[in-house]
Amino acid sequence: MAENDIITIDGPSGSGKSTISRLVAARLGYTFLDTGAMYRAVGYKAKKLGLSLEDGEALAQLLADIDLVLAPGDGDTRVILDQEDISLAIRTAEMGLVASKVSAQPVVRRKLTEMQRRLGSRGGVVAEGRDTGTVVFPGARHKFFLDAAPAERARRRCLQLREKGQQADEKEILAQIIKRDKDDSDRTLAPLKAAADALIIDTSALSIDDVVALMLRHIAKTGENGGKRS
Ligand code: DC
Repeated sequence: MAENDIITIDGPSGSGKSTISRLVAARLGYTFLDTGAMYRAVGYKAKKLGLSLEDGEALAQLLADIDLVLAPGDGDTRVILDQEDISLAIRTAEMGLVASKVSAQPVVRRKLTEMQRRLGSRGGVVAEGRDTGTVVFPGARHKFFLDAAPAERARRRCLQLREKGQQADEKEILAQIIKRDKDDSDRTLAPLKAAADALIIDTSALSIDDVVALMLRHIAKTGENGGKRS
């Protein structure tokens, strides 16, 4: 089954996924679905409530009545949790690690995957994350996996944090990136990996515009059914 006009973009942190996904969505008139923001929001709430990030039962309760709204913003997606705008608060390196921790919990993956499928059900969506092409939308029309050398990803992440007025130590960020990728890749459930039918792009030496152009060309070339046999 080809899922209605869904494009998935997965990859490790700092591979350029978010910026590129947002641009590809804008160029196609699609909605951008930032699945990482959802894991960050769950981590944020768990921390705020003082829960253990490995306590599946407590996380299940938290998720049962979660009030989470994603709204497209000018830059990052605006994330509203229980009527509180947490868009900025979740974009720290610490929240990335917290999100990675809660994302290994089956109950969290189950609930967020379900929410993501609901959000994608009308099609016209560019979904970005770690498992959008492998687990959330396995029948997506076009799939991409973006990667880049760890040192380059750390450099980009530092720039991004500094642009937001946050302090960033490149060495520390590199260590965090390596740890987070290892945790995300090693987990048994929906690990970070390229779908067998994804186009893998190493963005290390490419500009954002180059990657967007390459992806749009690929989408135009493979067309309606993503080059898959129907
Ligand atoms: O893309 P991001 O940095 O905002 O993601 C934060 C964490 O959330 C990431 O380290 C792992 C988790 N995540 C996930 O497990 N599956 C996704 N589809 C998206 C994010």
